[in-house]
Amino acid sequence: MTAQELRRLYLDFFAARGHAEIPSASLIPENDPSVLFTTAGMHPLVPYLLGEGHPAGNRLCDCQKCLRTDDIDEVGDASHLTFFEMLGNWSLGDYFKRESITLSHEFLTKVLGIPQEKISVTVFVGGGRDDAMIPRDEESPAVWESLGYPKERIFAFGRKENFWSMAGAGPCGPDTEIFYDTGKEPCSAACSPACNCGKYVEIWNNVFMEYYRAADGTLSPLERKNVDTGLGLERVLCLLTGKQSVFETELFVPVLEEITALTGAQYTENERAFRIIADHLRAAAFILGDDKAVQPSNVDQGYILRRLIRRAYRYLSDLNAPPLAMVTIARKFVEQYEAAYPELARNEAFICEKLEREEKAFRKALEHGLKKAEKFLAALPEGGILPAEQAFKLYDTFGFPVEFTQELTAERGFSVDMEGFHALFAEHRAKSREGAAQKFKGGLADSGEATTRLHTATHLLGAALRKVLGDEVRQRGSNITPERLRFDFNFARKMTPEEVAETERLVNEAIAAAIPVVCAETTVEEARKAGAIGVFGNRYGERVKVYGIGEVSMEICGGPHAANTSELGRFVIKQEISSSAGVRRIKAVLE
Ligand code: ALA
Repeated sequence: MTAQELRRLYLDFFAARGHAEIPSASLIPENDPSVLFTTAGMHPLVPYLLGEGHPAGNRLCDCQKCLRTDDIDEVGDASHLTFFEMLGNWSLGDYFKRESITLSHEFLTKVLGIPQEKISVTVFVGGGRDDAMIPRDEESPAVWESLGYPKERIFAFGRKENFWSMAGAGPCGPDTEIFYDTGKEPCSAACSPACNCGKYVEIWNNVFMEYYRAADGTLSPLERKNVDTGLGLERVLCLLTGKQSVFETELFVPVLEEITALTGAQYTENERAFRIIADHLRAAAFILGDDKAVQPSNVDQGYILRRLIRRAYRYLSDLNAPPLAMVTIARKFVEQYEAAYPELARNEAFICEKLEREEKAFRKALEHGLKKAEKFLAALPEGGILPAEQAFKLYDTFGFPVEFTQELTAERGFSVDMEGFHALFAEHRAKSREGAAQKFKGGLADSGEATTRLHTATHLLGAALRKVLGDEVRQRGSNITPERLRFDFNFARKMTPEEVAETERLVNEAIAAAIPVVCAETTVEEARKAGAIGVFGNRYGERVKVYGIGEVSMEICGGPHAANTSELGRFVIKQEISSSAGVRRIKAVLE
């Protein structure tokens, strides 16, 4: 069994039972500042779980890219991962407990052939928290029993184990969780799926969403009851292939071999390091490989990415890896995953370039920062605490992720004032957000006339570039101020002066033709079908605006735009330069 076979078996099983297969959404959530990454398959579906109609119907299935960093320090053992794939099936007000449990049972035992006696389950025993008393789930255990599961293998737990909700406000409800019994001896008389001793491995979670949890924790019933499930692809692959660890499955083995080829070190002697390197670089490749073009930075997604890369780099250095080993490893992951996730191949140049750049930056920072850190540590008494200001200095000036500083200090028997650090970090972030808000004033949030005209010119420019350079040219970034537009696009080399001149000419031709700019609202799918292009990652079924400029351009875009191209004036390209590997940047103005 390979990962691809498992994905197909799952999706085909549910498709044959009336579920529409939907594509994985981006790893970077749309319009949701409450979390940095998509952490579960249900995440991109929240609006539909709250009652909005989904264009693909009320039974869905998918394989979603997910990333969770809460357990990042556990990575290195046999099962913890930051990035993972979650297979899921949804009922939006359609079937509920009985059918959901029956479907899971059939898939596991009939399709995957897992012996039924290897499966144990948990159900919700009922109970209160916050302000709400939630009744016991009577139906789920009855369904499991009717399918032939003995009472001893149906465990009942409370809110902590069997009630699922997302981090912030959102849909939630009791769940029934499905565990694989590894056959290990029970750890005690009280051994159960809740004790985490390793005997029981959780493989699937079926959440029966009946409530909405507000930000303050209050629960209210949902109008429509839904099912949200999540099956961990890596874990199931691991147990189906009889491997001891997810890292020993075909998803990772080629990469572990690559690490050996690069370093001469053996996996069996360096399990933890190999696993951390592989996990972190896989996650980094998927973040960089997402069309959202996130890159290493000191805040938000960029910070997590930086942390993953720098941590992988440290472990690679300990194994004496040569420079740019990270790039070689990331390429291996691209090869490994490009069939299932074509965006990785599409963004391979970006992935490699950012990894290379980050490695160089970190090497330099390490040289300087380590000296500084040594100075700070030398001044501490035995077992002392590194002051928050110093930890922050290492972070802010030398790019040391604070976890790195923590590891470094712990090695010498010191600790870090983390509370103080978090306070400084929060302050720093608030400032950088303010800064960003300032910077973008006059940008996308601005609908001043000059900006609006430049928006429309940007569409004309994109269309002209596709004519001159080829149809595969796509926008990779755009930034507009009232003075100029800046447009990043994928293209491998510098444009010739003739190509620049021709692009300019085509844009001015469209301006001279005085074409009206029309706007229509439709779904992403309809827009695509009609031939509209646009930034990737719109949610399936989402209603979007499509701006059409005659025969010249049709793009999904939030606007605003000029009413007619004749309003634009004369278009002049000021600069055509490299933005990053495989990405060019044009700065242009309207005169
Ligand atoms: N949303 C559920 C989970 O992430 C299925 O476990």
